[in-house]
Amino acid sequence: MSKLFSSLKINDTVFKNRIGVSPMCQYSSEDGVATNWHLVHLGARAVGGVGLVMAECTAVSRHGRISQGCAGLWEQKQADALTPIVAFLHQHGAVAGIQISHSGRKGSAATALNGGNHLDADDPAGWDTVGPTSEAFDPDGTRLWKAPLALSVSEINSIQEQFVHSAKLACDVGYDLLEVHCAHGYLLHSFLTPLVNNRDDSYGGDLSGRAKFLLETIEKVRAVWPEKRVLSVRLSVHDFVAGGLSLEDSAQVGLWLKDRGVDILDCSGGGAVPAARGAIGNRTAEQPDMAGKIRIDTGLPTMAVGAITDPQQAEDLIATSTADMVLLGREMMRDPHWALTAAKALNVDTRHILAEQYGFFVG
Ligand SMILES: Cc1cc2nc3c(=O)[nH]c(=O)nc-3n(C[C@H](O)[C@H](O)[C@H](O)COP(=O)(O)O)c2cc1C
Repeated sequence: MSKLFSSLKINDTVFKNRIGVSPMCQYSSEDGVATNWHLVHLGARAVGGVGLVMAECTAVSRHGRISQGCAGLWEQKQADALTPIVAFLHQHGAVAGIQISHSGRKGSAATALNGGNHLDADDPAGWDTVGPTSEAFDPDGTRLWKAPLALSVSEINSIQEQFVHSAKLACDVGYDLLEVHCAHGYLLHSFLTPLVNNRDDSYGGDLSGRAKFLLETIEKVRAVWPEKRVLSVRLSVHDFVAGGLSLEDSAQVGLWLKDRGVDILDCSGGGAVPAARGAIGNRTAEQPDMAGKIRIDTGLPTMAVGAITDPQQAEDLIATSTADMVLLGREMMRDPHWALTAAKALNVDTRHILAEQYGFFVG
């Protein structure tokens, strides 16, 4: 019996298998509004038989986006565009997830498709960025990164309310799983990591001070996100730079998140500073095993992500209780029917993996 193809129940949400699409920016939104691309991109993977389809990092405010092409969920027109996408995912038996996010000091960039560089200060497409301090992401680099404005406490509280507002909209849209993005150097992670946050107020200092922004945000979000649905947090569980967050730090943060009602931890890594590799850097393949340590130390379910491409590898991650879900990013771009590929490789009955319009003929 394949463990990868066993179901998972968290609260009232049932994942039909343990395979998920990792959140991936598509740079295809218009004023934060999803387009036909999102329906096809996300819908195709639901048709392909995964248990979870997670939408890309979706900004809680206009200036919480990374680029002008990024997704947003701060107003009703954005929610309205997401509603039919979620309905389609549900029609094909996938759990619908969305990652809400604030880009912090890494915002105001060109889309990755246009090089991803920070926009010049006088570029009308850009905006003033924010962070725990006024240090730029890469002050010494050849790429020009804007110095962010250090957030005041009242500005922190306003951004927390933006997360709450996005969570309420996501709830009304019908998402089953809400993920708060605290990884890859974006705002919440930039507060959590000692590589960036050297504030001397209550939102800086030791790990508990640096975690305060995240933990307060989660408390407020959990209060509006239904108990029956799933709340996830994506952490960069390792900063991959000396002096950065360790697995032990992340396990402690995970315990605090568990106390505040988080149901599952999505274990990514890196991205805080230029010396750390990014979300798809050369140490990505180290991440899946890290999910196992976080799972043991916190007692929370985990999602493993990073260079997972091989069905047996995915099966082993679940069978060894390293993770409860596996998330695939780039491999899902190569093969939207990866669940069928995995089922074949693992000798699982393939008849009901793909949507019946395909599965009836080729399952
Ligand atoms: C095009 C692209 C966009 C991404 N956008 C996001 C994102 O919106 N949020 C996020 O947490 N990670 C993002 N990531 C990272 C992926 O979710 C994933 O963690 C990473 O690609 C490693 O998994 P993989 O080796 O299976 O691709 C992105 C990765 C890619 C390739």
